[in-house]
Amino acid sequence: VSRCKLAILGITGSIGSQTVQVAQHLGCDIVAASAGRRIEKLQSLKDVLGIDVIYSPYGNFDRKAFEEAVYSADAIMVALSDVSEMPLVLKLLESGKRVAIATKEMLILGHDLFAPYRWKNLYPVDSEHATVYILMRPYVPLVKEIYLTASGGAFRDLSLQEIDNLSPKDALKHPVWSMGYKITVDSATLANKGIELLEARVLFDIPPSKLKAVMHREVIVHAMVVLHDNFTLMGAYKPSMLLPIQFSLTYPNLKASLLKSVNWHEQTLHFQDIPIDKYGMYKLAIDVLKTDDKKLYMLYLIADDIVVERYMKEEIKFSQMPVLAEKIINTLSDSDIPTYPEDRVEWYRQMKERAKEVAI
Ligand SMILES: NC(=O)c1ccc[n+]([C@@H]2O[C@H](COP(=O)([O-])OP(=O)(O)OC[C@H]3O[C@@H](n4cnc5c(N)ncnc54)[C@H](OP(=O)(O)O)[C@@H]3O)[C@@H](O)[C@H]2O)c1
Repeated sequence: VSRCKLAILGITGSIGSQTVQVAQHLGCDIVAASAGRRIEKLQSLKDVLGIDVIYSPYGNFDRKAFEEAVYSADAIMVALSDVSEMPLVLKLLESGKRVAIATKEMLILGHDLFAPYRWKNLYPVDSEHATVYILMRPYVPLVKEIYLTASGGAFRDLSLQEIDNLSPKDALKHPVWSMGYKITVDSATLANKGIELLEARVLFDIPPSKLKAVMHREVIVHAMVVLHDNFTLMGAYKPSMLLPIQFSLTYPNLKASLLKSVNWHEQTLHFQDIPIDKYGMYKLAIDVLKTDDKKLYMLYLIADDIVVERYMKEEIKFSQMPVLAEKIINTLSDSDIPTYPEDRVEWYRQMKERAKEVAI
């Protein structure tokens, strides 16, 4: 039997390195890999893992050889923190390749362009969405509601006033997951859950009013799908990206995973409503979701990026983040979204630049 071949875009990151772990577990060869500025790390991964071709936009690499190697893979993992590879990702989907996408920003930016590949060769990686995918796939026309769960992030047991008196560094202490800093702050503000609802909207084509999130501090249930007869399907596993990553590369085939099973003899589960007044960034995301205007979805992402940056530099407080974000969205909402992938990536970059100039 020939070994499976994998390409990993963004191999040096958190999802990228966990994909390497899964690839080794599944016995796959990594034929192509890319990264951003950490070129030394990329080079050492090439040597250690025997990757055929590597690429970074910040170094002197052969782009053509890289794309050829990517096309030779059986499956491609998109684990980038950047949207610039969207044109390549779309071409890979069009050619029929299996593409697993972790990059929420890319899925939302290219929402209509990705739609033809829904339930075909496009697979979500985000744990909640991978879970919804597995639960929902046999019942697509029968789905009444989708619930995503939220851990509550670093500030879940504090009041808004207490949070405002803390340093942003405290937002980086996530109670459950260990991730990059942007997504960890997004978990503390619950903007991440808001973005995930926008992502669910574009991935599963379920109306905004049927997409919900609930607080679930144990993070054992990752998502729930309610069918028309009120039968609820729950997807549960220990909090780890290893399983959703593996699923995105192997579904519908199930293989043994690196994850231990939940001890159901001892596990308790709690669910509660999200206190929306405390989480202004989440509230803003819900308002944006309800408009169903995909341009506003993209502008929410941009606004969130900027407010996280300002918050981390201690220029604004936690409670001011949604105020500035809303101002950014309103200021930029007059622009039109281009159709072509390359133009859209450029539009996104320009909007980010414009957003930086909006002051509170
Ligand atoms: N971490 C999680 O648990 C998690 C869970 C669900 C979804 N996600 C989503 O998955 C995506 C990746 O998250 P992450 O936490 O893995 O981020 P990360 O740790 O910051 O890694 C990002 C990766 O993208 C690479 N990269 C950035 N710009 C690039 C460019 N222009 N060209 C090539 N490579 C580039 C980085 O390379 P360098 O190392 O060289 O900078 C790095 O390998 C995000 O959209 C995130 O929201 C993450």
